[in-house]
Amino acid sequence: MQNFITLEQIDSAAQAIKKQISIRPLVGIILGSGLNDLADSVQNAVRIPYSDIPNFPVSTVHGHAGRFVIGELEGKPVLVMQGRIHYYEGYTMGQITLPVRVMQRLGVPSLIVTNAAGGVHPDFEPGDVMLITDQLNLMGMSGLNPLMGPNLDEIGTRFPDMSRPYDYEYCDLARKIAKDNGVTLREGIYAGLSGPSFESPADLRFLRLVGADAVGMSTVPEVIIARHGNMRVLGLSGISNKANLDGSTVTTHEEVIEAGKVITPKVEKLVRGVLRSL
Ligand code: HPA
Repeated sequence: MQNFITLEQIDSAAQAIKKQISIRPLVGIILGSGLNDLADSVQNAVRIPYSDIPNFPVSTVHGHAGRFVIGELEGKPVLVMQGRIHYYEGYTMGQITLPVRVMQRLGVPSLIVTNAAGGVHPDFEPGDVMLITDQLNLMGMSGLNPLMGPNLDEIGTRFPDMSRPYDYEYCDLARKIAKDNGVTLREGIYAGLSGPSFESPADLRFLRLVGADAVGMSTVPEVIIARHGNMRVLGLSGISNKANLDGSTVTTHEEVIEAGKVITPKVEKLVRGVLRSL
């Protein structure tokens, strides 16, 4: 049998964090590619590199810092992942979702997940922000579900409901905050692929046909794990590039990072607004 993450491993990672903090975070925030700067505004911050946490995978991607930043944002206790770990880096599904498991063992009830994504919806432009209203678990459909292996009964049920991966109230809150702050908020379905290669034009036409509005290489496994443990989830995609459905343009990691500079202030407004309202 494959090596799956055990409750003991999760708890030893959670313990290493707990020892260093005096607050109980209310919200976990995962920052996507190019969006890491948000963690720099956390106040009274305790920074814990992933390499200091037992059993933790370490982010290997440029643009992903690789540490927890725990402190306050808008006066609310938060635990921010400055840099996430992706499946394409070679870790297991259990390893890449370990941070969310750790949040659950620390008693964090809510998760804000952000990512950089390619815009598949024809109206989406680079720099747009999309509220994720649902997700396409394409990794799971090909056998890569992070819940495979022995179920962790202490955290959730064997067959968790996935009818509302993204919390309806949080979606409404994000819509209201966007409106109040003059941020144009797109909405749609995020399709999660493993990467690291970007999609071919035929992949993208397929994704559009099955209802995807944005595509990326993360988020879906994290949200499945979050919902398994009954966390409430808000998801935001920064549209970093227009998907190349006809093969006329090229997608690069540099443009993803560059677009993050336009997207970060918008995502920051939304995240701060949501935190204020909680
Ligand atoms: N495809 C997949 N992942 C991405 C993209 C994309 O076009 N842009 C940013 N992350």
